[in-house]
Amino acid sequence: PAEPLVLGIETSCDETGIGIVRGRTLLSNTIASSMDEHARFGGVVPEVAARAHLEAMQPAIEQAVAEAGIRLADVDAVAVTSGPGLAGALMVGVGAAKALAVSLEKPLYAVNHLVGHIAADLLADDSEPLEYPTVALLVSGGHTSLLLVRDLTSDVELLGETVDDAAGEAFDKVARILGLPYPGGPEIDRAAVGGDPDAIRFPRGLSRASDREKHRWDFSFSGLKTAVARWTEQREAEGEAIPMADVAASFREAVVDVLVTKALDACAEHGVPRLLLGGGVIANRRLREVALARAEAAGVTVRIPPLRLCTDNGAMIAALASELIQSGRRPSTLAFGADSTLPV
Ligand code: KG4
Ligand code: ZN
Repeated sequence: PAEPLVLGIETSCDETGIGIVRGRTLLSNTIASSMDEHARFGGVVPEVAARAHLEAMQPAIEQAVAEAGIRLADVDAVAVTSGPGLAGALMVGVGAAKALAVSLEKPLYAVNHLVGHIAADLLADDSEPLEYPTVALLVSGGHTSLLLVRDLTSDVELLGETVDDAAGEAFDKVARILGLPYPGGPEIDRAAVGGDPDAIRFPRGLSRASDREKHRWDFSFSGLKTAVARWTEQREAEGEAIPMADVAASFREAVVDVLVTKALDACAEHGVPRLLLGGGVIANRRLREVALARAEAAGVTVRIPPLRLCTDNGAMIAALASELIQSGRRPSTLAFGADSTLPV
């Protein structure tokens, strides 16, 4: 059909996301997060996430169907994230999607989580069609990836990604070092209010001339995390107080600087005047501010989907499948499984 009714299932990390779209129209987007259960561990625990998906799945599907005002039997297709992500968590979504597609006798589409983040942009209310090519920067607790998108359904190239921690993970770990609760991103944002972003020059990972050849578009945040730990330990050893606002602002600036610099360098080098941002870390106000200001100076237009579509959700997975269906893509066979390292 021209505007397929698609139910999308997302379980790659700690959000059980069920979304329903008709073509590019968002009908419902139910998200059950197990974030609270991970808080006392300071990060997502895969086993806990998988179990939470199992418990949340059925009610989330029922809620999404009710909110969309459809009958489950009316869907034209079922879509699911098959990777990348946490293996056990992915398996729950893939199992549920297969069961649903078989029982409804509807086609099943296995899709890539990162490409799904890009498809989220199609669901924004005022959205004009996504123009190609575009560079996409996806930053969350689970990934930090830079992609060149020539066509959402057929030509997405991974330029680079983090070689260690994801950007959101760096926020979470540094928050822990500073004695702040999980999730660390919003906490560091709050702590940074009034701080001087240039107070401490923390390292920008993989930004040296010698990194250009092998890691031009890759990111690294574990050295930054260690630098913050060393800096605060040294202060404490000298019996001095930690200037929280300055440390938080300087750390955040190092993350934001390297993300925006590499994204805009990728735009320049590939002759692409468009940048799409996605992932939960986009909630960071400083990141949006710096990205918008520097992009404008570089003649690059920035697109940022609404935040509830930037964090992990099922609607973006349904939206991607809807595009694939309309481009004539054949459904997946039931032979596929969860693939924690699925390439784009
Ligand atoms: O996309 P997302 O909701 O899901 C996962 O990746 O699981 O992203 C969550 C991540 C967490 O690491 C959190 O600390 C980070 O996004 N985050 C932020 C902010 N809000 C959430 N990072 C920086 N600044 C924020 N304001
Ligand atoms: Zn994600």
